[in-house]
Amino acid sequence: MINKFKPISISLSPNVQKDDVVLALKLLFTPWKWKQGSAIEKLENDFRNYLDAKHAISFNSGRSSLYAILKALDLPQGSGVLMQAFTCNAVVNPILWAGLEPVYVDCADDFNIDIPSLRAAARQSRVLIVQHTFGLPANMDEVVKIAREHNLIIIEDCAHALGAEFNGKKVGTFGDVAFFSFSRDKVISSVYGGMATTNNDQIGEKLKALQEEFGQPSLSWTRQQIQHPVLLYYVMLPLYHFLDLGKIFLVLSQYLHILSKAVSMQEKRGERPDYFPKALPNALAMMAQNQFNKLEKFNDHRKKIAEFYYQQLLGTQFGVPVLSGVEGPQNHGNIFLRFAITHPKAHEIIYEAWSKENILIGDWYTSVIAPIDTQLDKMKYIPGMCPNAEHLAKKTLNLPTHINISMDDAKRIVHFLKKYT
Ligand SMILES: Cc1ncc(COP(=O)(O)O)c(C=O)c1O
Repeated sequence: MINKFKPISISLSPNVQKDDVVLALKLLFTPWKWKQGSAIEKLENDFRNYLDAKHAISFNSGRSSLYAILKALDLPQGSGVLMQAFTCNAVVNPILWAGLEPVYVDCADDFNIDIPSLRAAARQSRVLIVQHTFGLPANMDEVVKIAREHNLIIIEDCAHALGAEFNGKKVGTFGDVAFFSFSRDKVISSVYGGMATTNNDQIGEKLKALQEEFGQPSLSWTRQQIQHPVLLYYVMLPLYHFLDLGKIFLVLSQYLHILSKAVSMQEKRGERPDYFPKALPNALAMMAQNQFNKLEKFNDHRKKIAEFYYQQLLGTQFGVPVLSGVEGPQNHGNIFLRFAITHPKAHEIIYEAWSKENILIGDWYTSVIAPIDTQLDKMKYIPGMCPNAEHLAKKTLNLPTHINISMDDAKRIVHFLKKYT
């Protein structure tokens, strides 16, 4: 019997488990641990070991990490930075804040950068950001080849892809420098957080200096993030049983600055809020560490749920991620942060699932630069620049794979989707 009233969410801090909530509760009552402590060094050390990287430097978001990387590269003002469309404004903004120019490259049907388009655009820049979208590694053989031919510096955007592998090698180890995100709906989460990693000593030392220079965010900002898992678990999710009440609580608590927003209004206009760029506070490093210890369990679960979706939706009207030369999801280095599928009525499906079934299906990305109310002109994106990204944005939806999705939840989602097959 399917329970239609249990809310299923893809984006409300999906990785939070009881032990994360207990940790956050303890932290709320031990404010002296918020700034100082050994957690930052421990997390950075664990990342160095995990990626076999010489340097790992933490920041309070992927955004701050990317901004620091761009600053560390010391590019002349106005330099172009190659990046794919079908992305988030959190990638474009650090480029703009650093006084640089995004150079948009179209994406392919697998949601990653389109290799022929990259080859054609490579001459326009010295730097390339490669995004591993939804946890699927970009084709790093080709990317590295093009970068070598054109002397491009590669920044790997691993915000979706901690633990993903290309040809058996972890993403984040192919380029000159990489960054990861611990924001609320990423692979692991401390509500906000990020890490930059590199084997290049010069870049590593500059990143360390920038981490010092940025300093930590305010205590009130840190408190907002610590409160998040607690309020989510005890208040928000129970209220989501009654659709609008959960949403009202979320909007109200964001309005009252009790909880943070994932993306601020300013950022949708290309502006920089004052809590970026900053270093990672000790409390958030503790929360990220607790999640990092569960990384393998999280990613194994994601692959298992993805396999189920794949088996159920293959051969239907939904486009499933059948990847070149790959039998099924388990056989690939994709960690499936989300199981992205396509359908001509994608936006209608997302709306119906939420309004009628209490299922929040993912909308990454219903616009070439998400979220949908981002001002494209402020992102220096001109409609028509990347036709395939625009096309995919109209027909993409993504399904939850996170640790709190049970096989029964996945069955309920598939049951709903089958109305559209
Ligand atoms: C592809 C991609 N890169 C980078 C980021 C930035 O990460 P963060 O939210 O930690 O700033 C995001 C998320 O917002 C993202 O989706």
